[in-house]
Amino acid sequence: MPDKRLIFATQAVSFMNDKSINGFSKRSKAEKINWLTETFLNGDQESANLLRVYWHEDEQRQKRHDEFIENALTNFFLPFAVAPNFKINGEFHAIPMVIEESSVVAAASNAAKFWAARGGFQARIISRTKSGQIHLNYSGESAVLNDFFEQHKQQLKQSIGPLSKGMEARGGGLVSLELVDQTAQLDDYYYIDAKFETADAMGANYINSCLETMAATLKSLASNFSGFVPETATPEVVMSILSNYVPECLVEVKVTCPVSELAQEGLSGSEFANKFVRAVEIAHANPLRGVTHNKGIMNGVDAVVLATGNDFRAIEAGIHAFASRSGQYCSLSTAKITQDEFEFSMQLPLALGTVGGLTKLHPMAGVSLSILQNPSAEQLMMIVACAGLAQNFAAVRSLITTGIQKGHMKMHLLNLLSQYGATESTKSLAIEHFKTQPISARNVAEYVVKHQQDA
Ligand code: HMG
Repeated sequence: MPDKRLIFATQAVSFMNDKSINGFSKRSKAEKINWLTETFLNGDQESANLLRVYWHEDEQRQKRHDEFIENALTNFFLPFAVAPNFKINGEFHAIPMVIEESSVVAAASNAAKFWAARGGFQARIISRTKSGQIHLNYSGESAVLNDFFEQHKQQLKQSIGPLSKGMEARGGGLVSLELVDQTAQLDDYYYIDAKFETADAMGANYINSCLETMAATLKSLASNFSGFVPETATPEVVMSILSNYVPECLVEVKVTCPVSELAQEGLSGSEFANKFVRAVEIAHANPLRGVTHNKGIMNGVDAVVLATGNDFRAIEAGIHAFASRSGQYCSLSTAKITQDEFEFSMQLPLALGTVGGLTKLHPMAGVSLSILQNPSAEQLMMIVACAGLAQNFAAVRSLITTGIQKGHMKMHLLNLLSQYGATESTKSLAIEHFKTQPISARNVAEYVVKHQQDA
C-alpha cells in the first residue's frame, strides 16, 4: 500500500511550476507585489507602482483595509456618492451609494425628487425572520428520527443558551426548530430548520455558531439514543449553515399618485401609466426582460448595501432566488392602476445589519450609517428597498419614453471624454456640443480628435 503522504507530496510538487508558488500567504506585501510583477506582469514597474499608489497614506488606515481580506496588495477605489431627496414614510434621507456605473445615482436622485413631490415612498417591514439548516443523512425509519428529534428538541435549544444570551437581551434569538423530511427530493436527506431573529445584526456568525453547537449536541445525543441502529441508521451531520434565502425577512415599499400627475415626455398621465404597467407586466411574463428589469433594481440595492458595509453577494443570491419563487424568474416589482390611482410597489427579502461585520470596521460604512442617521436594521431595509424601487422607476420611465441611452449616455459622456484623452477645455466644449448631438463612443472619439487637432 503506497504511503498517502508520499502521494500527496508528489502531487503537490508536480503541480508546482515557474508560475506557481508555495507559501505566498506568508510573504510580506512588498514581496507579494514583487513576485506578482515578475511572474505575471512581465516586470512592468508601472503596474507595480499603481498598486502602491493606491495605498492609503495613513499606515494604520491601510492596515485596517489589508486586514479585511487575505493576500491584500492595495485598494480598489469605487466612487462614493449620495442621492438626496428620498422621502420615506415622511422623513427625508440622503442615501449613500457606492457604484461604478454612470447614471445610477442620477437616476435614483431623479426618481427620489419626482416622488418626493408626490408624497414620497411608503415602506413597512413584513417580517424579520432568517433561517439556518443542519443537513442530515439518515437511512433509518423516519418515525425513529422524528421521535429522537421531538424527545431532544429542548436539549438542542438549551445547548445554544450561552450563545444566545446577548442576542436575546437585544430582542432576538432562536424562534423555532423543526425537522424536515426531504427524502422525496433526495434519498436519506433530512434537515433541521432553525429560524432566528437577529435584532440589528445581519446575524450570519450568530446563526452559524448556533447551528454548529446544536449539530455537535445532536451528534452526541444521537450516539446515545437506543432507537438508532448503530452505523447504518444513525443521523450523520453533513453540514450546518445559515441560508441566504430569506423570504421571511421581507420589506415592502411603494409609491402612489393620481394617474394625471404622471404626464411627461409628450405622453398623457394615462398613456404613461398604462405603458409603465405594461412594461412591468412584460418583466413578469418574460425572464429575458425580467432579469434586466431586476438588474435595474439591484443598481440601487447593491449601491446602498455596499456603502453600508453589508454583504452584497448574500443579498443578490437571496433576491434572485425570491424572484424565482413561483418557478419562473419574474420581475420583483409590480405596477397597477386602480381607479385613476397609479401604484408601483415591491417586496424584497433583505437580511441587513447595522451593527457587526464591516458595518463597524469600514470607516466609510460608518460615515454612510451616520448620513442615514444611524438606522436600525429595519430602517436600513426600508431605505435600501426604496433605492431599488427608485432606480427601477427611473430606468423603466426612460425605457418607455426617451429610451435608456439618452440619459445614460448623457451621464457617461465624461467617462468617454476621459477615455479618449480629452483635455479639460475640450471636455467643457464637448459637454455643450453634446447637449444637442447624439452621444456615442464613436461621435465622442471623433469630436475629441478633431477638436484637439484644431486647438
Ligand atoms: P434628466 O431629466 O435629463 O435630468 O435625467 P435633469 O438634468 O433634468 O435633472 C433632474 C434631476 O435628475 C436632478 O435634479 C437630479 O436629481 C438628477 P437636481 O439635482 O438638478 O435638483 N440628475 C443628476 N443627479 C446627479 N448628477 C447628475 C444628474 N443629472 C440629473 N449629473 C437621468 C437624466 C440620467 C437622471 C434620466 O435620464 C434617467 O433616470 N435615466 C435612467 C438611467 C438609468 O436607469 N441608469 C442605470 C444604468 S442603465 C441599467 O443598468 C439598467 C437598465 O438596463 C434596467 C432596465 O432595463 O430596466 C436600464
